[in-house]
Amino acid sequence: MCVVGLGYLGATHALAMAKLGHEVVGIDIDSTKVESMNAGKISFHEPGLEVALREALSEKLVRFQTSFEMTEPAEVVFICVGTPQTGSGGSADMSFVFAAGETLSKAVSPETVVVGKSTVPVGTAAALRNRMSKVAGFPIHLAWNPEFLREGTALEDSLKPDRIVIGSWDDYSSHKLKDVYKPILDEGTPLVEVDVPTAELVKVAANAFLATKVSFINAMAEIAEVTGADAVELAKAIGYDERIGNEFLRNGIGFGGGCLPKDIRAFVARAEELGAGEAVSFLKDVDAINRRRRARVVTLAAQELGELKNKKVLMLGLSFKPDSDDMRDSPALDIALQLDQAGAQVTVHDPVALGELGDKHPALIREQILSAAAKGQDLVILGTEWSEYRALDPTAFGKLVANKLIIDGRNVLDVAAWQAAGWRLIALGRNVHN
Ligand code: UDX
Repeated sequence: MCVVGLGYLGATHALAMAKLGHEVVGIDIDSTKVESMNAGKISFHEPGLEVALREALSEKLVRFQTSFEMTEPAEVVFICVGTPQTGSGGSADMSFVFAAGETLSKAVSPETVVVGKSTVPVGTAAALRNRMSKVAGFPIHLAWNPEFLREGTALEDSLKPDRIVIGSWDDYSSHKLKDVYKPILDEGTPLVEVDVPTAELVKVAANAFLATKVSFINAMAEIAEVTGADAVELAKAIGYDERIGNEFLRNGIGFGGGCLPKDIRAFVARAEELGAGEAVSFLKDVDAINRRRRARVVTLAAQELGELKNKKVLMLGLSFKPDSDDMRDSPALDIALQLDQAGAQVTVHDPVALGELGDKHPALIREQILSAAAKGQDLVILGTEWSEYRALDPTAFGKLVANKLIIDGRNVLDVAAWQAAGWRLIALGRNVHN
């Protein structure tokens, strides 16, 4: 089989397929990425992925190339290229999907099953099938098979998914895909076979629901902050109701990353194009609540420090979530930049993301050693809940800073322990300030 696009999704999927015993050719137009993967290196931080890559290389189950040419046509080709947000309207840029599809049309046979995995606006698959069939000169077998992996647990999510969703127009394609996933399906993983538009929608609907859940609890945090209630206890109490569930109900500085923010905006844009914008207009509020939490931290910082100009602030964590170096739409990075804009001197620390930051945003002061980062700070903000921040000793850490003031943007610190060590701790959505 063949996997086109070696970003987060494609690299993980290629290695998950190799783990199932398939022979995989990974294709990407970026020759640096291809060379590094052939040398056993992954260009982003994802636990376990590089080990899987080296195993697959040594078993000769994977190889990577820039060319779409194959010695014999692949039985199955997965399209895993990116669909970034384009312009201010929030719609997704489909040019990579269509470009990959058209180039692929010249390399596949009438028996090849092409499978879309990228997150796309509903209706893309039908347009892609038409365009590909025209270039190939025969009807292309196309199926849609969304991927639900999370960064940080990507390989495990691919190998032990909650469900497999297959959308196809014909039995031949769906049989082929069921064959690909046989080892996973044999373990009892639920299979949902649907029409193609439903398969395209499942992914955006799932991400919209998750984003809504996070923004719901963040909206409750806003209410808690003006009423003296506690959003963390509230989440616990409502989460015991199995219909609500306690997952994805952690309030804080909100969601970021390469999927949730972009997908809800693209969903709104597509629904508006289809004349059904009203149906998902609430997602604009979901987005707005999410952004307001970031602004709230900046307001709190200004209130606590009197003014932000020349105040020293340390941001703990830059990635959008722990165990990832991904800073796309990261709430922590966004807040650090807003504080910098407001005149604060912002130092940033992150266990892995500083390398990825490179020379972007030069005003942010980088510090790799946590104890050095803490020296002389007027305010500390916990922006990403890395385990090393959760394990901080508040007494020892308190000796390094100039002012024992911390905003816990993820509600992970032990409030009583930090307060007992003399810190003023501000927890979002909680009435616990001392
Ligand atoms: C998400 C979906 O979970 C995954 O199924 C899809 O395939 C891709 O998008 P990911 O972007 O890796 O995965 O991140 P996820 O673990 O879902 O977290 C998203 C963001 O929400 C993070 O910034 C996280 O900090 C935030 N979050 C999550 C909260 O603020 N509160 C919560 O309770 C849960």
